[in-house]
Amino acid sequence: MLAKGIYRLCGLALLTLAGLAEAGEGRELAARQGIPNPAVIAHRGASFDAPESTAAAYLLARDLGADYLELDLQRTRDGVLVAVHDDNLQRTSDVARRFPERKGSPVSAFSLAELKSLDAGSWFNQAYPERARAAFAGLRILTLDEVMDIAEGNPEKRPGLYIETKVPSLFPGIEADLKARLQARGWLDTPGRVVLQSFDRNSLALLHKEMPQVPKVLLLWLGKGSIEPASAQTFAESGETDKAAFYARQQPKSAAEFERWLDYAKAAGAIGTGPSAALTAGGAQSYADLVQPWMNRMSHDKGLLVHVYTVDEKVDFDKVMAAGVDGIFTNRSGPLLRYFARPPAREEAQILAAHDY
Ligand code: G3P
Ligand code: CA
Repeated sequence: MLAKGIYRLCGLALLTLAGLAEAGEGRELAARQGIPNPAVIAHRGASFDAPESTAAAYLLARDLGADYLELDLQRTRDGVLVAVHDDNLQRTSDVARRFPERKGSPVSAFSLAELKSLDAGSWFNQAYPERARAAFAGLRILTLDEVMDIAEGNPEKRPGLYIETKVPSLFPGIEADLKARLQARGWLDTPGRVVLQSFDRNSLALLHKEMPQVPKVLLLWLGKGSIEPASAQTFAESGETDKAAFYARQQPKSAAEFERWLDYAKAAGAIGTGPSAALTAGGAQSYADLVQPWMNRMSHDKGLLVHVYTVDEKVDFDKVMAAGVDGIFTNRSGPLLRYFARPPAREEAQILAAHDY
């Protein structure tokens, strides 16, 4: 009995030491890139409390103290870079009412003036009545420049930008366009102020060609176009109804398959990966667990940082941090900053009120 207890204690001590070594490795890698560790990455802004990718969400994330404002980059018909996540505008705007004949069209089918005429806030009030605010109605889609304005707008809080090229195959040349805007605004002068990310390794390689000095992250997930799963059966074929539960059971085909993607990341010039997480409560943003300790160890051994998406709850902060990640994409920057003992000076509601929301 005593021997068993001693073995268990030794095991725990070894695990703790392994965890500390992991944390140390990540810290050094991050420091070399000018990236905070652990990094708080505000996923589409503070998008739990305000409509994603709008001024309200980015102002809140900035003033809470997030290290980075995350955005998904697309381009309007007239060539302006904008922050929109989905391939079309139906979920997060009133496009169906304003432009019914084009409601399912991609962002690239709209001019900036058309996008600016959309209401990108009211959908949130309808979807989340418990977090609704009258002033969210009529919020506008933002250009990249407007997100930069917000990031620069509080002398006490200067978050960086963590920019994803979204469906880049639809936007040839977007990598060069992005460089031009960042350079024009002096955003490329400070190491680690911008991090670039993509699921598309061709786009990542193009970003590397344009901006070799800027840290880049290859986003990872399990399935078509990314890491091959152990089981070929898709969610649709499984007949299941709970997507999160299905994904939570999925594993990469092999350690070698996972490693192949780390090597792709390095070959494209990445300094890290952005893997998915399986969330304890499930939900729409819960995917395969690609931040298991062995995966993070393998990443660190190859000199790659690990920034996991998208984690909002303490139980999952505990899990992914213990597994050795170096940063977290979160819709809830406030709770994550409090978790890391970096409590914001004001509550979310106070900050929103101060901005007249
Ligand atoms: O960019 C990290 C994470 O945002 C990837 O997922 O679909 O939310 O862009 P998504
Ligand atoms: Ca994203």
